Amino acid sequence: MRTEDLIKYDNEHLLHGLTPVKKNQGLVIESADGVILKDTSGKTLMDLSAQAINVNLGHNHRGVLEAAKEQMDRLAFSFILRGFANRPSIELAQKLATILPEGLDHFLWTQTGADTVDSAFRVANLYWKTKGTRKYKIISLRNGYHGTSRGVARATNLAQGIIEEMPPIPGHIHIPAYYCYRCAFDKEYPGCGLQCARFLEYTIENEGKDSVAAFIAEPEQGAAGFMAPPPEYFPMIREICHKYDVLYIDDEVMTGFTRTGKMFAVEHWNVVPDMMCLSKGIVAGYLPFGALAVSSEIFETLSGQFFPAGSTESGNPICCAMASKCIDIYVKERIPEHVAQVGQLARSRMEKEFLSLPYVGTVDGLGLMLAVEIVTDKKTKGRPSPGLTDIIQRRGVEKGALLRVVSNRLGYSPPCTITQEESERGLNILYSVLSELKPRDLAQ
Ligand SMILES: Cc1ncc(COP(=O)(O)O)c(C=O)c1O
Repeated sequence: MRTEDLIKYDNEHLLHGLTPVKKNQGLVIESADGVILKDTSGKTLMDLSAQAINVNLGHNHRGVLEAAKEQMDRLAFSFILRGFANRPSIELAQKLATILPEGLDHFLWTQTGADTVDSAFRVANLYWKTKGTRKYKIISLRNGYHGTSRGVARATNLAQGIIEEMPPIPGHIHIPAYYCYRCAFDKEYPGCGLQCARFLEYTIENEGKDSVAAFIAEPEQGAAGFMAPPPEYFPMIREICHKYDVLYIDDEVMTGFTRTGKMFAVEHWNVVPDMMCLSKGIVAGYLPFGALAVSSEIFETLSGQFFPAGSTESGNPICCAMASKCIDIYVKERIPEHVAQVGQLARSRMEKEFLSLPYVGTVDGLGLMLAVEIVTDKKTKGRPSPGLTDIIQRRGVEKGALLRVVSNRLGYSPPCTITQEESERGLNILYSVLSELKPRDLAQ
């Protein structure tokens, strides 16, 4: 099929998530290598989005593909429901435990970020039931993102109408996020005393501590446009959750596996959650796979209980073999250190060069999960009209890059393996897009 026919057929037959029906981007990807994507018309693009912050090791990493092929030849599938077992899933558990914060060494294998979070909620409910209480409420952050399936969509709280058609589900509570540039409490860091974190305590007390099962948050808000928290935020959250006996679920689906310059983002603040949700980078995004890591306390409490979660594909041997290989690469090639270094240089260039542009309001983010916020006016922090997102996406493609742009936040999240030289080229494209913005682009 020719490119125009592919695009036409796609528009007429495929449902794409998180976009209006029958609105595709007019681009069909055919092949990829490293940080480069190629479309069906032969155009090459730098992938500065890592495909929804997914392909942390770059496209088509040979070592990971070889591990998958080897496993496929040996054993393509064997299930682990009902107590059955396969070798790659056990070996992966052992390996994953060596890189996670201490104590998080019990695992449920999953397929996507959403079903990992869904399982975390089920584990929280089961844990409290086993403890003899019926705590059930889940507190999450405004503008948080935890997936689109029905079980988690209520915890997802993006402003863009993801849950509008759904009936209300009791027990989901949202509190303001750590979005310092537009503080919900109209305060300024650090004089604010982290009112956003304290608000969790207020909310637990208000709801009744005997009813709150868990608090869930991303360590850096991803889908909302890469907002990083102040360093005191998560240590405070950890303390509040301990104090009120509320489980703290750390959603590292996007931030995990080196994205923020640490293997897992909570390492920035030496915080250990009760559960951690993982997906995406666990297999460099090449197959659907994820993991829910739970503490020994949770695992031991559930000992002997019937466990009602999991699916046929949990512990798929090919995914497990790939994940083991990815961990080897992240560790041996010191990818966290690489991301910290390249990310720091990118951030300082953004602060020096980008921030002085007329419509760049702030620079945000950790590691290679960076963003600038585009405003109509730096003083009033006016929000541009929604049409700007498409304009930026289109101009990025014209300039040879697939950009990560969410509303008025232009992200920078290339594969974590990007070289310094490639990163400079990528940033040149971002700078060029930002410096050419005109008032009419922001008003459309
Ligand atoms: C923090 C976080 N949680 C959950 C999800 C959902 O993952 P999936 O799209 O694999 O369902 C995402 C997806 O971007 C995410 O960023």
